[in-house]
Amino acid sequence: MSVRVIAYSTSANLGSGFDILSLAHTAFKDEIIIEENKEKNKIEIESNDRIPLQIEKNSAGLAAKMLLQDKGIDRGIKIKIKKGIPFGLGLGSSGASAAASVLGINELFDLKLSKNDLVKYAMLGEQASSGSPHPDNVAASIFGGIVSVSSVSPVRVVEIPVNLDFNILLIVPEGQKEGKTKKAREMLPNQISLSKYVNNSRYLSSFLLGIIKGDKELVRMGLNDDIVEVAREPLFPYYKKIKEIALKNDAVGSCVSGAGPSILILYDNDTNLDKIKKEAYDVCSSYDVKCNFIEAKL
Ligand code: HSE
Repeated sequence: MSVRVIAYSTSANLGSGFDILSLAHTAFKDEIIIEENKEKNKIEIESNDRIPLQIEKNSAGLAAKMLLQDKGIDRGIKIKIKKGIPFGLGLGSSGASAAASVLGINELFDLKLSKNDLVKYAMLGEQASSGSPHPDNVAASIFGGIVSVSSVSPVRVVEIPVNLDFNILLIVPEGQKEGKTKKAREMLPNQISLSKYVNNSRYLSSFLLGIIKGDKELVRMGLNDDIVEVAREPLFPYYKKIKEIALKNDAVGSCVSGAGPSILILYDNDTNLDKIKKEAYDVCSSYDVKCNFIEAKL
């Protein structure tokens, strides 16, 4: 018996919601087929892409191992991963594979796990690629929509009611990078000032209230971050200029997608979309970066 699962790309953080907020989009998707392996306790991985196939280095493999071990399941599995989400670009690629892996195992062995439990195991899989079990990308891949991870122990994910109509534009630089999230996390400060903490909390509450109340101005004010995006700026030197272009052209807001270098723009009318793309393309080119534009929906 085998099961086939699809998991979508995600943009984590959404401004100041580092490791808390995330949004799933239709931009890219991974497809995973999981079947029983004749050999007990054996997890095998196959893929169409240049991703590591060792279990501990593969987010789908590690998530599967943690789940099977914890549930005392000794049956072996084969995980066939068809990557559609490019990796190392801040689009939740490793998270989607981990999410699809646990969703597939849940179905294959009829484990009846809750979505929160699935997030618990999928986030452990993230350790394989980023060195940290961050929950945000996997939470959005498993729940869909916009989510907030309110607790990790125990895992509690809250689906945010979205009362604002918007479309998504992703600006995706060419060139995939392995291990990029790990490096991006090492760039972060261990301590922050009280004033930065207060400002970021304002952004976070404005963003959430704006999405829930359907208030574009609040979302625009909230989609900011003075801590994580600032520390990682060398990874996406074009970001500030692109954000200026988006806001000048009436976009709802813009932020870095996950750990970058992709940029997320939310917009609610496409009158200026071509202008945004053209100007953003020129900005990327001025940094010797070739950017692609992907339109998507929540
Ligand atoms: N919250 C994570 C980070 C997301 O910013 O490191 C990684 O995609």
